[in-house]
Amino acid sequence: MTIMRVKSVEQSIRDAEAPEFRLRRVLRAVDLLGIGIGAIIGTGIFVLTGVAAATDAGPGISISFVISGIACGLAALCYAEFASVVPVAGSAYTFSYASLGEFFAWLIGWDLMLEFIIGASTVSVGWSQYFVEALGAVGLPLPDALTAAPGAGGVANIPAAIIALLLTVVLVVGIRLSAAVTNVVVAVKLAVVLFFIIFGAFFVKAANWSPFIPPHQPPEPGAVSAPLEQPLISAIFGQTGSFGLSGLVAGAALVFFAYIGFDIVASGAEETRRPQRDMPIGILGSLAICSILYVLVSLVMTGIVKYDQLDTAAPMATAFQAIGAPWAVGLVSLGAIAGLTTVILILMLGQARVGFAMSRDGLLPVWFAKVHKKYRTPYRITVITGIIVAIIASLTPINVLAEMTNIGTLFAFVLVSIGVLVLRRTRPDLPRAFRVPWVPVIPVLAAAACLYLMLNLEGWTWIRFGIWMVLGLVLYFVYSRHNSRLARGETIEEAADEL
Ligand code: ALA
Repeated sequence: MTIMRVKSVEQSIRDAEAPEFRLRRVLRAVDLLGIGIGAIIGTGIFVLTGVAAATDAGPGISISFVISGIACGLAALCYAEFASVVPVAGSAYTFSYASLGEFFAWLIGWDLMLEFIIGASTVSVGWSQYFVEALGAVGLPLPDALTAAPGAGGVANIPAAIIALLLTVVLVVGIRLSAAVTNVVVAVKLAVVLFFIIFGAFFVKAANWSPFIPPHQPPEPGAVSAPLEQPLISAIFGQTGSFGLSGLVAGAALVFFAYIGFDIVASGAEETRRPQRDMPIGILGSLAICSILYVLVSLVMTGIVKYDQLDTAAPMATAFQAIGAPWAVGLVSLGAIAGLTTVILILMLGQARVGFAMSRDGLLPVWFAKVHKKYRTPYRITVITGIIVAIIASLTPINVLAEMTNIGTLFAFVLVSIGVLVLRRTRPDLPRAFRVPWVPVIPVLAAAACLYLMLNLEGWTWIRFGIWMVLGLVLYFVYSRHNSRLARGETIEEAADEL
């Protein structure tokens, strides 16, 4: 079947070397670690930890972080193998094109757009909340109309749009600058997280950790929550309520958002000097560092404040307020603003690279893939991404968007894990600088763990996800299938002539 056509690894690498589409290979292992940590530490740890502790898992949220971290670790091993074999822009999209075929590649590319665009918009709104609060604290309040989406009591969220557009400029000017900006900001953010852990540790009261895993609570009598508002798995098996063991897993599915980002390191493969060696370091290293920090932050946070008081927009700040250290609140806000900035930057970077790869392959109009003469960045797709993110961020309230991002990312992880197995079978000959150990056990476990977390997301999220994917299918059959360069047998040089 033509829609299963596979683009060979060699061809992907050749395309990446065509002068018209060439990006600059400047990133080192330390830059990749910076990109990874820059993308990972954000809304998840600064905001969602508190919500998940208060509503799902109590102090056991640290166990939820471990569960989610293990699922991510398994998937990260698969990503590391792929990125070391196919060091080309486009991350999971490019990998799938080489293993599962065009149709799945399209699906995954379309799905990654969901992760990156919705993710970047969500974090832009979160950034705006912290920023507006900080301005208010120094006596410069902004009117609500200009700082909230129509559904959230305003006209448009202007700061959210402005940050997205400013970061677009940084991305166009160059990945080296982006990496430099990222490294500085990452240092600030890491310092703040470490400060929280070390300073906060002195104020932990063991009594707050008891019970560590609050007993399962059935839903309040008379409270009927609509089936679609429950995790899909509860709706199917009829088990509802919060806390207990099922709460640990529901918490894991929510705080999964905190880990998103290590996968984006793979998007930078084409701009990495020694991708075969440095990709695994960047992907696995950043994930390992963040997992340890997350578990420690969640332990300290639930140790300072009783978990049922953590359902706030800024739980780290809540913890510091509780110990009477208001000066530390400002510090945490600074860390959050810095932290969220790099997350937006890198999510948009990921989107631009995937869009670039898809356009270069003809699945989206090749016009998008033009590389800037001076900066050697795919500026058209970058600017379009920035504008879309700015529009969504200024007009949409956050709430369910984080779950949408999670389901999209988890689905990508499932496909990448299967892709590793397929590529081992179809192309055993390829040099693999990094090999997943214990194949097929690890990739199968990775896919199963991610699928299980997906089932713990609510029914509505599945429906929205389904609609997005159906839209993608329509686009594929109407446009991409016919315009695919692989289908038309068009060389990269011919594509360049169309620019
Ligand atoms: N992991 C990123 C965050 O938590 C997406 O903001």
